[in-house]
Amino acid sequence: MTNLSPDGLSNIVAKANLAPSVHNTQPTRWELNKDGTLRLFLDRTRVLSIGDPERRDASVSLGAAFEGTRLALTTIGLAIKGYEVSLVEGSPEILISTAPSNTADSLVDAIDRRVTWRGGFMPATTKTLKAIQDICEKSGDAVAVVEETEIAWLASFNDEASLDFFRNPSYRAELLEWMRLSKKHENWKRDGLNAQALNMTLIEAIGANIILRKPIFEFCDRLNVARSLISEKELTRSSAAIALFHRPFGEDPVKSGAAFYQLLLRFALVGVMAWPMAVLADSPPHRQAVAHRFNINDNRRVINAFRLGILPSTARPTRIRLPASELFTTA
Ligand SMILES: Cc1cc2nc3c(=O)[nH]c(=O)nc-3n(C[C@H](O)[C@H](O)[C@H](O)COP(=O)(O)O)c2cc1C
Repeated sequence: MTNLSPDGLSNIVAKANLAPSVHNTQPTRWELNKDGTLRLFLDRTRVLSIGDPERRDASVSLGAAFEGTRLALTTIGLAIKGYEVSLVEGSPEILISTAPSNTADSLVDAIDRRVTWRGGFMPATTKTLKAIQDICEKSGDAVAVVEETEIAWLASFNDEASLDFFRNPSYRAELLEWMRLSKKHENWKRDGLNAQALNMTLIEAIGANIILRKPIFEFCDRLNVARSLISEKELTRSSAAIALFHRPFGEDPVKSGAAFYQLLLRFALVGVMAWPMAVLADSPPHRQAVAHRFNINDNRRVINAFRLGILPSTARPTRIRLPASELFTTA
């Protein structure tokens, strides 16, 4: 038996759900079984059918929430004794058993601090660069790109990959479903990507709501202005470094997700925040070109690319989350 009680579960789930998730869909759900085991599974209504048809990003998000659960459990003196990942009707689930343990994990300290920052970064200092390079090297899972010209190349390549995705009207429609571009949106403070988290001004949010729709985007594309409208190039170029996160080819994406979150927390511990560029990994030709250019071995798969740096003092990042009470059940 474990001493994981239904009463304590709410705090554990609230902490675990601070893990990153694709489009902030927060797809992970927790169920405490009578025998004290904990089941983590996906809410299938929150899986992106267009942007993530193979449920890879959802699985990575589940893996991140699993790592979040592991860390949260350490705060109440529990460790994961064993776990099993299984596929249930095409969706991954994780069954966890716990045991008392007094082993603390310093990554817990970074959970509240970590945030996705979608704006410009402060100029890189030698200390920041060294910290990023050390973390990447120690993890064995990331290549730190620090040369200005290479960061500029990745910035342009990211814009190019984004444009390919944005040219699909169904992809844009699904993205818009998860964007909250007005404070009046009922889910502004609950889930998805609100204008504040996207670091958009009111005018930019109104503009995005128009431009991303069909046929306006197609019209802008014909005029050759869609590229510049969605460009993140200048902001990307302000990154102190870009970490190309890679994991063994064929690895269960749930496992990759746990390593994804661990890496982000290691950066956050030294004050470095990340802004992912998933399109560079989600588009096979772009993923392969990146792996080739940065000598990433064939037996590794690029999972994501993180723009990294220190936030300017004026930055007001925000965390949007569902209440924990909606995320778990007890058998
Ligand atoms: C698999 C995965 C892919 C992601 N891709 C992107 C991305 O391409 N661009 C981006 O801005 N954020 C991306 N994110 C970050 C999420 O949008 C972010 O975690 C979520 O909005 C919650 O915000 P927080 O990280 O500040 O807590 C990704 C997260 C995950 C787990």
